[in-house]
Amino acid sequence: MSVEWGSASRGCSPPSSGPETARAGSIQLRAIGGASPRKILHQQSRVRCLIVVNDRTSRIHIVAEAAAEVFLPGNPRMHEPRNRVVQVSRFGGPEGLEVVDAPMPTAGRGEVRVRVLASSLEYTDVPIRRHLYAQTMGQRPPFVLGYDVVGQIDQLGDGVSGFQLGDQVADMTVLGSNASYRTLRADDLTRVPAGVDAMEAAAIILSWTTAYQLLHRAAKVKRGQHVLVQGAVGAVGQALLVLGKMVGVELWGTARGEHARVVRELGGNPIDYQREDFTRVLPSGFDIVFDGVGQDSYRRSYAALKPGGLLVAYGYSASVQPQRRLPSLLTSLARVYLWRGLLRLLPGGKRTYVYSINLMRARHPTWFKEDLERLFGLLAARTIRPRVAGRISFDEVIEAHRRIEAGGLDGKLVLCPD
Ligand SMILES: NC(=O)c1ccc[n+]([C@@H]2O[C@H](COP(=O)([O-])OP(=O)(O)OC[C@H]3O[C@@H](n4cnc5c(N)ncnc54)[C@H](OP(=O)(O)O)[C@@H]3O)[C@@H](O)[C@H]2O)c1
Repeated sequence: MSVEWGSASRGCSPPSSGPETARAGSIQLRAIGGASPRKILHQQSRVRCLIVVNDRTSRIHIVAEAAAEVFLPGNPRMHEPRNRVVQVSRFGGPEGLEVVDAPMPTAGRGEVRVRVLASSLEYTDVPIRRHLYAQTMGQRPPFVLGYDVVGQIDQLGDGVSGFQLGDQVADMTVLGSNASYRTLRADDLTRVPAGVDAMEAAAIILSWTTAYQLLHRAAKVKRGQHVLVQGAVGAVGQALLVLGKMVGVELWGTARGEHARVVRELGGNPIDYQREDFTRVLPSGFDIVFDGVGQDSYRRSYAALKPGGLLVAYGYSASVQPQRRLPSLLTSLARVYLWRGLLRLLPGGKRTYVYSINLMRARHPTWFKEDLERLFGLLAARTIRPRVAGRISFDEVIEAHRRIEAGGLDGKLVLCPD
């Protein structure tokens, strides 16, 4: 008897005795992730047929159909899928990261499992792994990084409807998506339109949804307003320029001098943050300043506003330093926000809005989906195109974190497990 693997279209018919028992001669089908072989065979959309040729009778039997979940000992082509993950093994710099093999997750009730196609590396991963991020302050190493994910569904948990194996979906997860496989709650998923590149889709999830919500949900920008974007060549900054230009606001963006051309290309007036004083660029002051850097506790961003102007604070990367501790960081941020809140009460007072995508999602879950769907639509139509600085493999993740922390990037780094 000889055994071969062959491709076949969906629906190659199983023999009466094979897949039910998941055993044919000495060949054993082993299910992973808790699903029975029968269920896997039933659910698989990427179908491969195991063809057994009886050398004596020359009869050919198709004894099984399955995809990656079938193991054939000794056959190097068939191996158990590995779930590689990027793990924070100890809080601190990139040297505290490890790429390790983790158990294969199983979709629980109301969940799907996805094979991860792309997951961004974010600046926000830096405060998370340095233990300077309020939302993940309860986490203790080891835990898996990965703020967002685009994946292909390869397992459906009980009670999931509206999705099928093979569907491409996205979610913002905060943690856990720098992995080969992960589970997701079906209710949280956003579909990725056909033809959209998974890497570009992943590059959009956190950064562009943040920018969209900063413009339209937080600041409610209007055509003709004068807007300053701090860190304009950063991932969120670039999206703010592109999406701001689309609604007709006039844009200025701070960036290092060598990135002036990028700011112009994206529709902004460049300001060199190392040489120029942005508070003097527009003597009448800006209507809105978007600040994800928080240099000088936002003092100069606030000073650059016109009376009644709005500071939208959404990040504090200037405060993310190795010697910093979370309680002191949170105390100083709270003091800043409180002080700005009081200043608002003065005549002609300037306003402050503190934005968090997770808080907004918790309060308005439908907004997140609507906004991400809208952005995916723009991506599918090629109206927007995120700049991607690099497609990263697991082996390059630690170096990629060093690059993110060093600054000077133009575009996102995206982990693509395959
Ligand atoms: N609130 C939320 O929901 C939310 C959502 C997403 C992100 N964030 C936060 O927002 C911030 C930005 O995120 P990101 O992903 O866009 O980060 P990013 O890609 O690292 O961009 C940050 C940009 O800021 C620039 N920059 C650094 N120091 C500056 C200064 N003194 N003046 C002006 N620009 C300066 C950097 O330029 P160089 O490269 O030249 O150093 C870089 O281009 C991070 O703190 C992130 O954690 C918050």
